Amino acid sequence: MNIAVVGTGYVGLVTGTCFAETGNHVSCIDINRDKVERMQRGEIPIYEPHLENLFERNIKQGRLTFTTSLEEGIRDAKIIFLALPTPPGEDGSADLTHVLNVAGQLGKILKDYKIIVNKSTVPVGTAEKVRDIILKSSTVEFDVVSNPEFLREGFAVDDFMKPDRVVIGTRSEKAKKIMTELYAPFVRQGNPVYFMDERSSELTKYAANAFLATKISFMNEIAALCEKTGANVDAVRIGIGSDDRIGKRFLFAGIGYGGSCFPKDVQAMIKIAEQAGYDFKILKSVVGINEQQRESLVAKIKAHYGVPLKGKKAALWGLAFKPDTDDIREAPALYIIDALLKEGVTVSAFDPEAAKNVKQVMGDKIAYGKDEYDILRDADFLVIATEWSLFRTPDFNRIAALMKTKTIFDGRNLYDLNQMKELGFYYNSVGRETIGD
Ligand SMILES: NC(=O)c1ccc[n+]([C@@H]2O[C@H](COP(=O)([O-])OP(=O)(O)OC[C@H]3O[C@@H](n4cnc5c(N)ncnc54)[C@H](O)[C@@H]3O)[C@@H](O)[C@H]2O)c1
Repeated sequence: MNIAVVGTGYVGLVTGTCFAETGNHVSCIDINRDKVERMQRGEIPIYEPHLENLFERNIKQGRLTFTTSLEEGIRDAKIIFLALPTPPGEDGSADLTHVLNVAGQLGKILKDYKIIVNKSTVPVGTAEKVRDIILKSSTVEFDVVSNPEFLREGFAVDDFMKPDRVVIGTRSEKAKKIMTELYAPFVRQGNPVYFMDERSSELTKYAANAFLATKISFMNEIAALCEKTGANVDAVRIGIGSDDRIGKRFLFAGIGYGGSCFPKDVQAMIKIAEQAGYDFKILKSVVGINEQQRESLVAKIKAHYGVPLKGKKAALWGLAFKPDTDDIREAPALYIIDALLKEGVTVSAFDPEAAKNVKQVMGDKIAYGKDEYDILRDADFLVIATEWSLFRTPDFNRIAALMKTKTIFDGRNLYDLNQMKELGFYYNSVGRETIGD
């Protein structure tokens, strides 16, 4: 099948590459000329495990091409995926400018039947909006389908190739048949493809992300309670997670959720509810708790020293919003850096993949190390902001020898409390006893 993907970011590039991998011919369209030229040269623009091999193979075999021209890119496609950004507008609602602009352009250039599939996360009713815009300037037959994406950065290829489920919102039998055919290779193990109406499909994506964000904020509140009562959040997590009704995943306390999805999608869902005349109270609390949690680590650092932090030297491990990605959108690390810089602290940071992206936004406000030890020399304290595997079993003797004092503020609960006690570290984590106080 011939497919076009409009928007070649984290979702679009994975979508395009994985569809090419199953034998389709995919044309990826992006307005970012520099990005398109890099991809045409065979250079992958993002870090996503296991994507590069597939990307290279499908380019080589002629199934994956890149262009900045929408008209050229969609010409032969039967299905056009929109994987465009839907960033938060000023009031928190999803900004549909990119999606609706492209819909307007499509209306003018459609020449034969096509399915326009919205993969972007969009508010309820967007499929109808897209259809109305196209109808204004088009007389050809087309269908607009909602097909939200559930991939996780860091696991995107696996999530796309073997999805837990595929959700497709359409009432068109013709579109249903073609979409079933397209997704057949991805659900051979029997994972479900759920067909529903467009509105339910659009809301399913927000409901999923809002629920996951709620789980995180809930555990962060449990962690706060653990700190006040002397309980250990990891023990509580294991204790509740073995109940099937709760589940083991997504129960880790930390320094708040970040990334390109949860923060904006939770805000957007609050707005969707507001516009529908419903006050979504629980989600407002989820946001409030997350903001509080993002600030909690710096509050702990200030409380520990009890004096102004000006002149102190911080080392920071992890900049990406989570491990195995170079995505730094809404990364908790960036909030921590801002807060530390405001206090007059000097910050040196290391991240295996995301430093170049941080450098683009922060420049030389902080220093960047070549590895995780490089930044520890004479540091007063170490902050752990992202749980990259690399940080899980470090050489603690080397850390101790390099740092001015053996002080760690761990926002990801990476280390064993007894081990920290034995090694004589001051170790402050989330929802657990502080060691060395
Ligand atoms: N990143 C994720 O993990 C994830 C997961 C599920 C769903 N989503 C949703 O998918 C959508 C895309 O997210 P993303 O993270 O891939 O975004 P992204 O910012 O990484 O990529 C978007 C791409 O679209 C391009 N673009 C913008 N306007 C364009 C236009 N008019 N024509 C062609 N290209 C254009 C940009 O240059 C960019 O390359 C969002 O709605 C997001 O909420 C993201």
